Amino acid sequence: MSESYAHLKGKRVVLGVSGSIAAYKAADICSQLVKWEVDVHVVMTSEATKIIAPITLQTMSRNSVSTDMWEVEEKWEPGHIDLADSAELLLIAPATAHTLAKFAHGLAPDLLSNIYLATLAPVMIAPAMNGKMLDHPVTQQNIATLKQRGHSFIEPDIGMLACGYEGKGKLASVEIICQAVSEHFKS
Ligand SMILES: Cc1cc2nc3c(=O)[nH]c(=O)nc-3n(C[C@H](O)[C@H](O)[C@H](O)COP(=O)(O)O)c2cc1C
Repeated sequence: MSESYAHLKGKRVVLGVSGSIAAYKAADICSQLVKWEVDVHVVMTSEATKIIAPITLQTMSRNSVSTDMWEVEEKWEPGHIDLADSAELLLIAPATAHTLAKFAHGLAPDLLSNIYLATLAPVMIAPAMNGKMLDHPVTQQNIATLKQRGHSFIEPDIGMLACGYEGKGKLASVEIICQAVSEHFKS
């Protein structure tokens, strides 16, 4: 019997995309979640926009994509507060070492990190990076801090990394990430 995803209909997921080479996979994450009728709103760091064009994620998510904290909007309230308040889940996929550090230390230089600080929604993080960056004590410490804060992690895979090394650090598969979202809303 095929699994039902009806529980996901209309759920508002803010998908934060940071500047990992795996950012292009966010298009497939959007595509799968939209098929399940999730209301996906993408927020990209400026580094992410160098790897995948916002228009791609806008088309795949069927919602406008936010990249700039300083953009003047039609509504008076800052967009990041609206997204932070309305999110039912903040999913960061892929999460770079830099984004993990920003979140762990409460730094807020960009739209995504401001949303992170302003939201009360549960946070789910799928890291992706070079294996040595992942193993670095400061990255491991940042991950431990974020886990202690109650955020859930989707562990990176072992495999051939974009940097040419084999090891742990590959973004978990789109299927595993989307299933984690589905399980989150079931519980
Ligand atoms: C081609 C390319 C690929 C990169 N891939 C990764 C990656 O997979 N993981 C990572 O942590 N950083 C990666 N970086 C470095 C980040 O882009 C850099 O640390 C940046 O400051 C991240 O900013 P952000 O977290 O605000 O998006 C990559 C850089 C380049 C040029």
